[in-house]
Amino acid sequence: MGRLDGKVAVITGGASGIGEATARLFVAEGARVVIADIQDARGAAVAAELGASAVFQHADVTGEGDVKATVDRAVTAFGRLDCMFNNAGLLGTVGPIEDIPVDEYELTMQVLLRSVFLGMKYASPVMRAQGSGSIISTSSVAGIIAGDGPHIYATAKAAVIQLTKSVALELAEHRIRVNAICPGATVTPLVLAGVPNTPQAEDAVKAAFTRYQPIPRAGESIDIAQAALWLASDESTFVTGQAIVVDGGLTTGRPWSKQPPPFRTHTPMRR
Ligand SMILES: NC(=O)c1ccc[n+]([C@@H]2O[C@H](COP(=O)([O-])OP(=O)(O)OC[C@H]3O[C@@H](n4cnc5c(N)ncnc54)[C@H](O)[C@@H]3O)[C@@H](O)[C@H]2O)c1
Repeated sequence: MGRLDGKVAVITGGASGIGEATARLFVAEGARVVIADIQDARGAAVAAELGASAVFQHADVTGEGDVKATVDRAVTAFGRLDCMFNNAGLLGTVGPIEDIPVDEYELTMQVLLRSVFLGMKYASPVMRAQGSGSIISTSSVAGIIAGDGPHIYATAKAAVIQLTKSVALELAEHRIRVNAICPGATVTPLVLAGVPNTPQAEDAVKAAFTRYQPIPRAGESIDIAQAALWLASDESTFVTGQAIVVDGGLTTGRPWSKQPPPFRTHTPMRR
């Protein structure tokens, strides 16, 4: 018995990183999935590997027609939609506020926020008709604490959390749950984009991520996929409006080893 037996999911950004790991895990747990992405070759290859339980749909998540077509594909290919995972993303525009071009601001917000709005908008009627569903959106620790991502990325991710909470309140009475996941530093092509494509460079990123948060290892796509699995499954049917943080303790505080020595060494208490 799989934890998602009989369920159908759309996973945007499913060709790579967190989305790809989630597609693989969902299928292993009995789901059928629509992998939606702009990376056609990569998305089609993942779907082909997963066999009859997966199809690939070319979709640019900034486009209303593409998102609607992706939801429609789930229904035509598999008959229903139990989970909409709004996960596609990029780092977007980076740099000082004075240097950010307006068109880069617009595109970043479109990929990271408008896409989530569209995913919710088009998943909702299908799920309402079914009387059940789980909408999951990938936010970030950057949406919770400042200084952990570029300005516009962080702003869009914070907005994803608030959109999640607001829509969760509306859809709860239809038994549609709406939650976000906030990954911490996770080794995926998104974070490796700025380094040379070599094992040494990837190891250096992993080593840096290992020192980044209290749990001393780099986050992996499967860590986030496991949270998505729980939110998509019937194990979480009383959970809605939440931003589930999967970050090795990053947003909790400083690692123990970085706290001031007087706090870490026991000395007899002054009374
Ligand atoms: N990797 C991290 O450390 C980290 C941390 C926090 C949040 N996130 C978020 O996780 C999500 C997944 O990112 P990832 O780290 O797996 O990176 P990734 O680059 O491996 O995957 C992102 C996928 O989104 C797709 N995509 C980008 N723009 C698209 C568009 N307009 N339409 C359709 N697909 C598009 C890409 O082609 C890619 O396949 C993103 O929303 C990202 O912001 C990542």
